[in-house]
Amino acid sequence: MNDKKIIIAIDGHSSTGKSTVAKQLAKALHYIYVDTGAMYRAVTLYAMRKGLISPDHFAEDALEDVLAEINIRFEVNPETGVAEVLLNGENVENEIRTLAVSRQVSKIAAVSEVRRKLVEQQQQMGVEKGIVMDGRDIGTVVFPNAELKLFMTATAKDRAERRFLELKVNDESITYEDVLKNVVNRDHIDSTRKDSPLRQAEDAIKIDNSNLTLQEQFEQILKLAETTIATA
Ligand code: DC
Repeated sequence: MNDKKIIIAIDGHSSTGKSTVAKQLAKALHYIYVDTGAMYRAVTLYAMRKGLISPDHFAEDALEDVLAEINIRFEVNPETGVAEVLLNGENVENEIRTLAVSRQVSKIAAVSEVRRKLVEQQQQMGVEKGIVMDGRDIGTVVFPNAELKLFMTATAKDRAERRFLELKVNDESITYEDVLKNVVNRDHIDSTRKDSPLRQAEDAIKIDNSNLTLQEQFEQILKLAETTIATA
C-alpha cells in the first residue's frame, strides 16, 4: 500500500453504526477519527443546560448569540485510545449520548449558524488528510472532494433495535418504541432541513448493513479504503 493519506467521509441515517466502522477503519489505517455528531450533540447539551432548548421551546436567536462561548474539541482517552468530546474543557462523552440529548439534537443541527461554525472546524481538522469523519453532510458539504465516500443505511427497525440494546444498559426505563420514534423523527428532520440536508452524495458508495455482521461490514469497507488509497 502506498503511504498517501486520503479523506474518508462516512454519512448516513441515525444509528447505522457509522461511528463503529469509522473507528475500526481509523485504527486499521492509523488515521484520525472525528465523530461530527458528537459536536452537534455537545452544542445541544450546552443549549439544554442554558435553558435555551426543551421539548416545547427553542430560543434559536439566543443560541446564536452565545455560539462564540462554545468551545468543542476532542481528546484521546489514553485507556481506550478513542477520542472523546470536550465542551468548554469538560468531558461530556457520556452525557451527550442520552435520549434527552438525542431528542433535541436535530433541531440544533438545523440551525445554519451552528452548522457554519462546526463545518469550519471540521474542515480545519482535515487539512492534512489521513482522517475518517462521520456525520450527515461530510461527503456533500464538509469534504465534497473526499477520495472515499460511504453512505450507510439500514431499516429503521434494525437501527432502533441496535440502539435500544445500547441505551438499555444505562437506563432500564427506555422502551424500544421510544427509540424507534426518535430514529424515525431524526431521519425526517435531518433529511428535510433546508441547510445541508442528509442525502447521499452522487459519488458515494451505499452500504446497507441490515444483513451484514460488523466483521463483514468492516472487511468490505477496509477493502474499499485500501483500493482507494492504492490508486490515490
Ligand atoms: O451521528 P449522531 O446520531 O450522533 O448525530 C446527532 C445529530 O446531529 C443527528 O440527528 C444529525 C446531526 N448531525 C448533522 O446534522 N450533521 C453531521 N455532520 C452530524 C450530525
